[in-house]
Amino acid sequence: MANLEEILHQRLAPAFEKVAGAPVDPAIRRSQHAQFQSDAALSLGRRIGGKPRDIAARVVEAAQLGDLCSSVEISGPGFINLTFSDEVLARLLADTSADERFGLPQTKAPETITVDYSAPNAAKEMHVGHLRSTIIGDAAVRLLEWQGHTVIRQNHIGEWGTPFGMLVEHLLDIGESEAAHELSVGDLNGFYKAARVKFDADEQFKDRARKRVVMLQSGDATTLRLWKTLVDESKKYFMTVYGILGVCLTEDDFFGESYYNDQLESVVDELDELGLLRESGGAQCVFLEGYTNRDGDPLPVIVKKGDGGFGYGATDLATIRHRLRNLNATRLLYVVGLPQRQHLEMIYDVAREARWITPPARAEHVGFGSILGDDGKILRTRAGHSVKLVDLLEEAVVRASAVIAQKNPELDEKTHTDVARAVGIGAVKYADLSTDRMKDYVFDYERMLSFEGNTGPYLQYARARICSIFRRAGVEMPLPEVGTLAISEPAERALALELLAFSGVIAEVSGSLEFHKLANYLYGLAASFTRFYEKCPVLRAEGDVKHSRLTLCDITARTLKLGLELLGIEAPDRM
Ligand code: ARG
Repeated sequence: MANLEEILHQRLAPAFEKVAGAPVDPAIRRSQHAQFQSDAALSLGRRIGGKPRDIAARVVEAAQLGDLCSSVEISGPGFINLTFSDEVLARLLADTSADERFGLPQTKAPETITVDYSAPNAAKEMHVGHLRSTIIGDAAVRLLEWQGHTVIRQNHIGEWGTPFGMLVEHLLDIGESEAAHELSVGDLNGFYKAARVKFDADEQFKDRARKRVVMLQSGDATTLRLWKTLVDESKKYFMTVYGILGVCLTEDDFFGESYYNDQLESVVDELDELGLLRESGGAQCVFLEGYTNRDGDPLPVIVKKGDGGFGYGATDLATIRHRLRNLNATRLLYVVGLPQRQHLEMIYDVAREARWITPPARAEHVGFGSILGDDGKILRTRAGHSVKLVDLLEEAVVRASAVIAQKNPELDEKTHTDVARAVGIGAVKYADLSTDRMKDYVFDYERMLSFEGNTGPYLQYARARICSIFRRAGVEMPLPEVGTLAISEPAERALALELLAFSGVIAEVSGSLEFHKLANYLYGLAASFTRFYEKCPVLRAEGDVKHSRLTLCDITARTLKLGLELLGIEAPDRM
C-alpha cells in the first residue's frame, strides 16, 4: 500500500502533466491548513505563464479526486489543499493494519548490504564511540533486514598491527592465565595501560615488542597462538557487552583487521598494475586530487609503509575490495565516527579509481558525532578516565530499576528485573538514535530516563498503557480481526493520519539512515495517541465505536512496537 502522499501524487501527477504538457512533480506535503498541500502550480505559473490559481483550478478539474477527498480547495496564490474523506482514511487504515507488515512490502530490489559497525579494538576498552557505532549499526541491520535485503554484518575489530607486539610481550610477562583472566573480566584498559607503561619506560621491553611485531606479521606459530589468546578473550568480553546491549552481533560477525592479512599484497599489486601507486618517502601511496593535510601538502593514502608493513589504510582498501568482489555487496555501509570521514572518503575514492566500485554499487559513510559529558567535552569519568561501557549501561539499568519501582511497585520481581533492563538499555539507545547522528549529544541519565518528553521510556510506556487498556477490556491483543473502522472525531482523524504516515517514514529512513526521523515519528505518534485517548473514551464507548477505537489502540501499539523493535528497543507489555 502506498502512503497518503504517494496516493495523491499518483492522482495529481497526470493532471499536472495534462495542464503543463510535460511531467511536473506535484510536490505533495503535509500541511497545517488542510491535511495535504501541493504548491506546484506556483512555480508552474512562472514556467508556462498564467495565473497559478487558474492553473491550480485546471489541474483540480483534470484530476480524479472525488473518491478520495472530502475537500479539494484552492487557496492563497494557488495552493491546492487536499483533505481525505474519513471513509477513505478508515478503509486505508483497515487495509494496512490487516497486514502484519503494515502494508510495507518487502523490497522489490533486494540488495546485498555490508554493515561495518561496532569495531572495537582488541585488548582495549570499548569507548563511547564504539557504543554509538554499535547502536546505530544495529538499527541499520534491523531495518534493512526487515525490508528483505541480505545484510552481512562486519565487525571490523582492531586486532592487528604494532600495539600487539607490546601486548603479547606483556602477556608473556604476567603469564597467560593471569592475562586471560584480566581480559575476560573486562579489565582491558588495565591490561593495555600496563603494557603501554612498560613500553614507554623500558627500552628492553620496547625492543622485545618491536621484534614481536615482526614475528607476528611473519606468522610465527607461538606468537600467533599468544596473539590469539588476547584476541579470543577480548572477543568473549565484547560478546558479553553485546549481550547486555541486546544487539544482533554474533561471534560469526568478527571480521577483524587480521582477516585481510593475506589480501594486502594483492591490493598493492593491483593498484600498482593500474598505475595508481607513487613512492613517497619510501612508502607506496595513492595520491588523490582534493586531499591535503593541514599544511596544504598533498595527503596520500598509504598503501604500503616504508618498512614493508601495512597500516589501517591498506586494510580498509582490502575490506572494500573484498566486500564488493567476494561478498558481492552493492551497498557498503561504514558506521564509523566523524573523525574518520576523510580516511573513508579517500578509501572510497581509491576504490572508484581502481574501478572496484562501479554503479550500482556504492559505499556510504554512516558517520556520527560524539557523546559528551555535561561539561560539553567528550564523556569521561569524574577522574578523567574514559568511561567503561558496561559501567555506563549498568548504571542506566540501576537507575531505571529505581524509577520503575516507584512507578509500579506491584510488578513481581522477575517482571521488574526484565522491565528495568528493557527501560535502562532502551533509554540509552533511544537517546542516541533520537538525535541527528551527525551531531554530538550530552549523555544525561535523568533526561533519557524521564517518562516525559522524547525519550525511550515515554514511548515504551505509551505502548504499555495501551496493553493495559486491553487487559482492562478483557480483549486479547493484537485483535484477531481488524473489522471496520469508523473515523469521525478530529482526534481519531489525526491519529489515523499519523498511523498512515509510518510506511513513508520507513522508506525515507532506509535510504538516509537518519534514525532520529523514525524516533521523532514514533514520538509524534505517541503524542497523537495521548490526545486521542483524552478526547475519545475507549472502554466507556459502545458497540461499533468501541470496536473501532480499540482497533485504533491496537494499530498504534503495533506500530510503536515495530518501530521500537527496528531501533533495537524492547517494548514491555507492562511497566
Ligand atoms: N577499530 C576502529 C576504531 O576503533 C574502527 C574501525 C572502523 N571500520 C573500518 N573499516 N575502518 O577506531
